[in-house]
Amino acid sequence: RPQLLSVDQFSREAVEDLFRVADMMQPIARRQKISRVLEGAVLGNLFFEASTRTRVSFGAAFCRLGGSVCDTTGFTFSSMAKGESIYDTSRVLSGYVDALVVRHPEQGSVAEFARATNIPVINGGDGPGEHPSQALLDLYTIQREFSRLGKIVDGAHIALVGDLKYGRTVHSLSKLLALYRNLRFTLISPPSLEMPTYIVEQLGRHNHVVVQTENLRAGLQGADVVYATRIQKERFADESFEGYTPEFQINQALVDAVCGPETLIMHPLPRDGRPGANDLSTDLNHDSRLAIFRQTDNGIPVRMAIFATLMGVEHQVRHSMRDASW
Ligand code: CP
Repeated sequence: RPQLLSVDQFSREAVEDLFRVADMMQPIARRQKISRVLEGAVLGNLFFEASTRTRVSFGAAFCRLGGSVCDTTGFTFSSMAKGESIYDTSRVLSGYVDALVVRHPEQGSVAEFARATNIPVINGGDGPGEHPSQALLDLYTIQREFSRLGKIVDGAHIALVGDLKYGRTVHSLSKLLALYRNLRFTLISPPSLEMPTYIVEQLGRHNHVVVQTENLRAGLQGADVVYATRIQKERFADESFEGYTPEFQINQALVDAVCGPETLIMHPLPRDGRPGANDLSTDLNHDSRLAIFRQTDNGIPVRMAIFATLMGVEHQVRHSMRDASW
């Protein structure tokens, strides 16, 4: 049954196959070509947590392939507010739509949706668990940027910064990058927000070098990719912000002092752009090393590729394309 629940289901070959489909989708994503391979299909976009990028880009990707989208946002606008179970919700919706994208605050809940239905289910983020489509578009961005710079992913130095405990994007991205060879991971966070041990051990089993540190300035030295994350305050139970001060902010002065001219600065967004916030600073907005909006743009072709592959139409896309007329 075709589903996208975790990056664990990918081999390196499967990732590269998906990226070839994403490359093919680029003219459609850039509105130069039109394809209607999903004409007549309906997507159910079920978001029980806030989202801008994932919800809208999955919806736009489906529409640009000729399909239609039904959206439900928040518990209050679904009958789960009246106590309906995930099983019943998923089972009912599978009679209405042809695929589901689900974001839910509980880890493992999207897999529960998938067990109740035969239609493709895509994990749009399950609590602190995973965000596989974000990791795929992040890795796609890294590959495209490295290709432009004449570099490859094997052997790269990746610095992951911020809330590595609850940040589901860094969980999925680390596991995907583990498929490559001889990487160096510098995991920069306060001790209370360290990467889960099972992911650190998984990186070690794949023979990658892993360094864990609280020292932001030292940790960024020599990195090919700096991937910053927002502190996931909404998932905090009893941790405080102690130890996570504005000195963790990644800003122009820090990047100029410790990063090289080809270092990629990435973030899944949203970021906290308020002055003094301990996140990726907006003063980097005009620095060409900042890849955040190239990441968001790449969300469309990658999510088109995910739909085309899960719905078995990837081989029809090329022949279905015609010129856009606007
Ligand atoms: N990166 C990401 O998941 O963004 P949204 O929360 O806006 O979907």
